[in-house]
This record gives sequence, C-alpha cells and structure tokens, in this order.
Amino acid sequence: MEKKFINLTKNSSVGVPELDAQHDHLINLINKLNKMCLGREEVSDIAYAMMIKQTLYFIQFHNNCEKELMEETNYPGLDVHNKFHHVFFMNFLKKIRAFESRECVSLEKLPDFLYEWLNSHLIMDMDFGLHVRKSGYLVA
Ligand SMILES: [Fe+2]
Ligand SMILES: [Fe+2]
Repeated sequence: MEKKFINLTKNSSVGVPELDAQHDHLINLINKLNKMCLGREEVSDIAYAMMIKQTLYFIQFHNNCEKELMEETNYPGLDVHNKFHHVFFMNFLKKIRAFESRECVSLEKLPDFLYEWLNSHLIMDMDFGLHVRKSGYLVA
C-alpha cells in the first residue's frame, strides 16, 4: 500500500518560526525514516540504525527546546504538554528496542505510529504557539 508523506503547510504552522523550522525538519526525518521502513530490503542495517538515532536525537532536542520556551514564557499547560512528549518518546524507544532485540522483526507499523504522533503533536503545539505569540516573546 502506498503511504502518503506529509508536508508542513500553512495550516500546521504554529506561528513561531523556530518551532516551525524544527517541525519541518522533523517531518523530513520522519518521511525519510518511513521511506526506509517501507522499502527495507534496499536499506543497510547501519543506514537504518543511523536514521533512527538521528530521528530520536532530534525529537529529544525538539522536546527540550519546547520545554525551555514553555518555562521562559510561563506556559500554563507545561506539565500536560511535557507529559505528552515524554509518553510518546518512551513508546517510540520501546518500539525501537523491541526491533533491535528482534522481539519484533518488523517496523512496518512505525509509519502509522509516527504520523499519528506528528499530527497530534502539531495540534497540541497550536495552543502553545498561540501562547508564545501572546507572551511577546517574538517581539523581544
Ligand atoms: Fe513541537
Ligand atoms: Fe510539543
């Protein structure tokens, strides 16, 4: 089945340039990773492992950036938002570890998992983006 790859559109912009740039990069990473998952026979294990690591690191970096910005702008939804980041990250790690330890031999469901997460992540960041814009952070 052909998967659709997603793009950052005006509708998914959160209105904060540094977050939009990170989301754009995140989307590119996830699209690339998904391409690898779906055509695994053409990808070496090393290339695959590096791509997963790169994606994991970037998600962690992005979550940390958002956390710092939430603290800096006194975002009232900080705890709930961080918990959402954390739960997803741990689930992602669990899937990768299961794959690495060969408990689960295929990552073919990873694309759906990542796209679902990305959509809910972007929706949740809308409220945060609105808060950042109202806080005056972008003007300073
Ligand atoms: Fe985000
Ligand atoms: Fe977020």
